[in-house]
Amino acid sequence: MRALWRAPYGDRVGDLTIRPMTSDDVPAAERVSDEGFFDLDVRMRTVSDPEPTRRGDAHRAVWIERTRHLVTTDPGGCWVAEDDTGLVGIVTSYRRETLWCLATYAVLPGRQGRGIGKPLLAAALQHGRACTRGMLSASADPKALRIYHQAGFELHPQMSLTGILDRSAIPVVEKVRDGSAGDIDLMDSLDRATRGAAHGPDHALMLRTWHLLVSDTTTGSGYAYVNERGQLALLAASNRRTATRLLWAVLADGPEEVAVDHLTAANQWALDVGFAARLELHQKGCLGLRGMKPPAPYVHHGALL
Ligand SMILES: CC(C)(COP(=O)(O)OP(=O)(O)OC[C@H]1O[C@@H](n2cnc3c(N)ncnc32)[C@H](O)[C@@H]1OP(=O)(O)O)[C@@H](O)C(=O)NCCC(=O)NCCS
Repeated sequence: MRALWRAPYGDRVGDLTIRPMTSDDVPAAERVSDEGFFDLDVRMRTVSDPEPTRRGDAHRAVWIERTRHLVTTDPGGCWVAEDDTGLVGIVTSYRRETLWCLATYAVLPGRQGRGIGKPLLAAALQHGRACTRGMLSASADPKALRIYHQAGFELHPQMSLTGILDRSAIPVVEKVRDGSAGDIDLMDSLDRATRGAAHGPDHALMLRTWHLLVSDTTTGSGYAYVNERGQLALLAASNRRTATRLLWAVLADGPEEVAVDHLTAANQWALDVGFAARLELHQKGCLGLRGMKPPAPYVHHGALL
């Protein structure tokens, strides 16, 4: 992979040290992430957006478990920037087969735009230097989008479907069952066919954290994870018909107020479902890709991609 800057492994950049993240750093890293993303939500809020909120306890616990998982699987992909005040920036990334993914990336508000984020990302990109593909879900922060473009990522706008579900529109959903660890091989095959690389060890984490739905018939197969809030977290399928069936199954089991995030233009089947369910379409951030086309039929997760 083309690196943007020379990685300053364990080096000091001005008064700043950039060093690998440890498991003990993760709670403090979570605070940096929450500060960074809460401030981002306040800055980028449009009139139709709800009031930004801090991360709740359940969400924080999921964040911490996921980040500890990544520090364990990819110690060379997770970095912190620190000075005498403590952690000021964090990045987590990981390799799955030939794919490098950026999970999260944040600098404390008030410290942004002063050259902390770029060397942090450079360290994470070094971890993916042998990967032929790259994937990240970018916020709408103009600085983040600029940095990702400079790092050679193509930016594909992401859409979200939100609103109150019209339950009368839900069709009869058949051939969808609860999934289990016995489906991991099938899911890894679907991951390879859609995004070019299996989720591998991430399936064990996702199975612990989320609810899995699977559709596996003679005409197609697919899976969908439902997150702790009852919303779609990740979906992969071998064809649009199976993807459509799974999305309806997620909506049917979920709350009245729906948010289906991270839809790219390559996944118009999801828009068909959303409009039929009388949801509203909005744009939010970008999917950044290197060496690959937007996966379909596929709905990525913001961090586990
Ligand atoms: C994205 C983020 C991690 C980058 O860290 P940072 O320390 O702010 O980044 P740097 O200062 O190293 O680099 C910022 C770049 O954006 C440029 N920039 C600064 N303000 C900008 C603005 N308002 N609009 C566009 N570009 C801007 C800087 O000039 C620099 O680019 P350059 O070196 O080519 O001139 C940080 O801004 C952040 O935490 N944002 C909120 C959370 C977020 O969106 N994270 C990304 C999730 S995908």
